[in-house]
Amino acid sequence: MRAAFVTPEVMPFSKTGGLADVAQALPLALYGFGVECTIFTPLYRQAKKRLVDNGQAGERIRLDHPVWIGDEAQSLTYRVFSHLKPQVVFIEHDWYYDRSHCYLGVDGQDYADNVARYAYFSRAVMEYCRYVDDAFELFHAHDWQSALIPVYLKKLYAEQTGCLKPSLLTVHNIGYPGLFPAEQLYATGLDWDVFTHDGLEYYGQLNLLKGGIVWADAVNTVSPTYALEIQTAEQGMGLEGVLAHHSDKLSGILNGIDYSHWNPETDPHLPANYASRNRSGKKACKKILQYEMGLPVRSSVFLLGVISRLDRQKGIDLLLDAFGRIAGLDVQLVVLGSGDRKIQNGLTDLATRFPEQVSVEFGYDEPLAHRIIAGCDAFAMPSLYEPCGLTQMYSHRYGTVPIVRATGGLKDTVVDYTARRLNHGQASGFSFSEAQPAQLAEAIARAARLFFTDRRSWNKLSRWIMRLDHSWNASAEAYARLYQQLIETTQTTSGASHG
Ligand code: ADP
Ligand code: GLC
Repeated sequence: MRAAFVTPEVMPFSKTGGLADVAQALPLALYGFGVECTIFTPLYRQAKKRLVDNGQAGERIRLDHPVWIGDEAQSLTYRVFSHLKPQVVFIEHDWYYDRSHCYLGVDGQDYADNVARYAYFSRAVMEYCRYVDDAFELFHAHDWQSALIPVYLKKLYAEQTGCLKPSLLTVHNIGYPGLFPAEQLYATGLDWDVFTHDGLEYYGQLNLLKGGIVWADAVNTVSPTYALEIQTAEQGMGLEGVLAHHSDKLSGILNGIDYSHWNPETDPHLPANYASRNRSGKKACKKILQYEMGLPVRSSVFLLGVISRLDRQKGIDLLLDAFGRIAGLDVQLVVLGSGDRKIQNGLTDLATRFPEQVSVEFGYDEPLAHRIIAGCDAFAMPSLYEPCGLTQMYSHRYGTVPIVRATGGLKDTVVDYTARRLNHGQASGFSFSEAQPAQLAEAIARAARLFFTDRRSWNKLSRWIMRLDHSWNASAEAYARLYQQLIETTQTTSGASHG
């Protein structure tokens, strides 16, 4: 089976969040289930630089005809890497993609032409699949940036080509719907008849994710709990009605993690490697992390870590408040994050108030992220909502106990500690339910208490979580099954309508 995997980010070429990790690992895992994916992604500046640094050019393919983005004809150029597994096709358009960030200008605001940039991306993928390689049986689109794929398939290409191919839209975060002023519909090349309340219109604005949800043959999110949550007013961000209306095609498939990149036994970023049977390397990682972050180096202290986009979603405000409540304990906090300036200021203030206990680092730093996951005793994710979350699973793998708010994928992957659950092999961290600083503080205090007073149980928990299975196997199989169903249903329906 061949699938076009259309993603705005993919490691190691581009990344602003977990989608990039998923887009790298899932297509690879799908091979094991008979699915051959081709990844389609924009050739951003950092991707281009990486190709140049590695001396890779790929095969450049240019189509003779342009696509129209509004009233501008845009040429179509691709860089194809067919020898890679999976195959990667970059969409090359320097004006759109050779910029310092994937989505945001230096002012931190969305680029003004984001509709044009991603309408072009989706159109370029469709044109490739029409004129260069038409053997794809299914399209798998991700987030608002490729949510026009299902719309184009049904509203443009089915008519033009006489052939309808199925599509799956994965919603990684409903908080980013791709909402734009109505007049920008012109850039998509779609007729105004799609701009209705059961189409791309959302309270007078253009909502790209909504279009994808309406026209995709199936929609999934990245955890079963989040699939339920987004059908409620609290978590649906205004799209709950549309999702509930389409609930028969909505499901939740939990992300996995990539064990080739996140494995404490082989991780090249760590000062010392370790395994669940011999964890002395973890102690060394803790020491060196404390030293590197400028904190007193003591093994008896409870070291808590955070690695996060600094966005309201991640509940860092709760942590800022909660830390004051637990600062009397022998606890240290290290934070690596990038994003919102106000949240950064809050963290800087915290580090100033507690210089012996709190150390923060701003920016995006992959090796440091690995060292934090390995070196900490526990890892906090107080998210207000979390579609899946990957770092709690990375923490498991590294024997670092996650402390999470029970929401979305965090609820599906972390079972709150009790002595009984530990003995039954069920406990996998600490969790709290309400997004309140007092509850987060209480969860951290409970974890710290176990660490200070019952080190045997703590170590047992830490060793146990290292053995949990978060590999992609089960989830890739679920995706492959869904792909197959969609292909079969489309064949039956189009067969019936032609017969
Ligand atoms: P989200 O996609 O909502 O940001 P995830 O937990 O799914 O959350 O994925 C976040 C990914 O980004 C993880 O791989 C995490 O390690 C990484 N990450 C987040 N912030 C940073 C940072 N400042 N430096 C390095 N890696 C980061
Ligand atoms: C989003 C979500 C995160 C999820 C990631 C990958 O960015 O915020 O929870 O893990 O996508 O699916």
